[in-house]
Amino acid sequence: MKTVVNSWNEWDPLRHVIVGRADGCCIPPPEPASDPKIPLDSDMRGVHGPRSQETVDRANEQLDAFAAMLEKRGIRVDRPDPIDFNRAIATPDWSHGSMFGCQPPRDVLLTVGSEMLEATMSYRSRWFEYLCYRPLLKRFWDEDPNMRHEAAPKPRLTDASYKPDYLSDDITVEERLEMVAAKDFVTTEAEPLFDAADVLRFGRDLFVQHGFTTNLTGIEWLRRHFPDHRVHALNFPGDPYPIHIDASFTPLRPGLVLNNPERRLPDEQREVFNRNGWEIVDAARPAHNSPPPLCYSSVWLSMNVLVLDPKTVCVEASEVHQMDQIDRLGLEVVPVPFRDAYAFGGGLHCATADVRREGDCEDYFPAG
Ligand code: GLY
Repeated sequence: MKTVVNSWNEWDPLRHVIVGRADGCCIPPPEPASDPKIPLDSDMRGVHGPRSQETVDRANEQLDAFAAMLEKRGIRVDRPDPIDFNRAIATPDWSHGSMFGCQPPRDVLLTVGSEMLEATMSYRSRWFEYLCYRPLLKRFWDEDPNMRHEAAPKPRLTDASYKPDYLSDDITVEERLEMVAAKDFVTTEAEPLFDAADVLRFGRDLFVQHGFTTNLTGIEWLRRHFPDHRVHALNFPGDPYPIHIDASFTPLRPGLVLNNPERRLPDEQREVFNRNGWEIVDAARPAHNSPPPLCYSSVWLSMNVLVLDPKTVCVEASEVHQMDQIDRLGLEVVPVPFRDAYAFGGGLHCATADVRREGDCEDYFPAG
């Protein structure tokens, strides 16, 4: 019997992965979820429409080279099917001017064992993004009799899912930091919301960032959906725009996690790691002072690495400090030029979604 889908954590030897594509990617018009997620001084404020063909081509060159390098290492790589993102979409509850793209499969797909789960997502512009992955998921379903294709309940995303007062440009970064520290985020608890990139898999334990793109109801949905797992909510209070966990907290191998030093995990949330002998190390400083143009993410994509196995890690090739730190921690570094793809939805972890890693579900937190 052929196993196609099987992945329980972020570090076991990678055998099959999805790598995104930049084709047709758009900057969607503003929507209730997005404004508070775009920093006030960002060059993305007020800009929307298709990205230029020149930037798409440069991003695709790096995505294709990354995919080719993984294949050369014997890893099977599949790619999504882009749809026409530059068209208006509607549900019975709302309409929106365009979609987004399919560079970051990590945001949409969560693989837990033999299951691939489509996340609810929390932006209207990303509501239909799962369609880009359906051809692949159907193929895996056909090839693997044990593959479970699941989709979390599609959210309504009416205005009831967002806090209107969160939109104000009068809120300063300092005020946003206070709001985030008080766990006051843009989304309400009207319905379960989560992006898959807010979830990190550590065998029996799933660690989920509670922030702008995942609410507590979404975390509770994950808890009920995965009854054999322990599901932990994490917060990273130093991040004024907490979107996706993978530029804040990055496991490298069993027992070792990098934590963004500007977004330290609170003491009470560290206890489960301390009790079980895990070391949490401050990540190295990013090599850049600012993200590339028209990029949603921060300079901390430096720590958005893809672990190929517990001794080998892909790091963006210009991130000299992060490469040096991982090298000193005793892992082999594979430099991957990827900065031209950042604006399309993030770094090397964002741009991938696991299909298969070797290994089974282990308990890395036996002390509870
Ligand atoms: N949320 C991703 C970042 O820090 O840029």
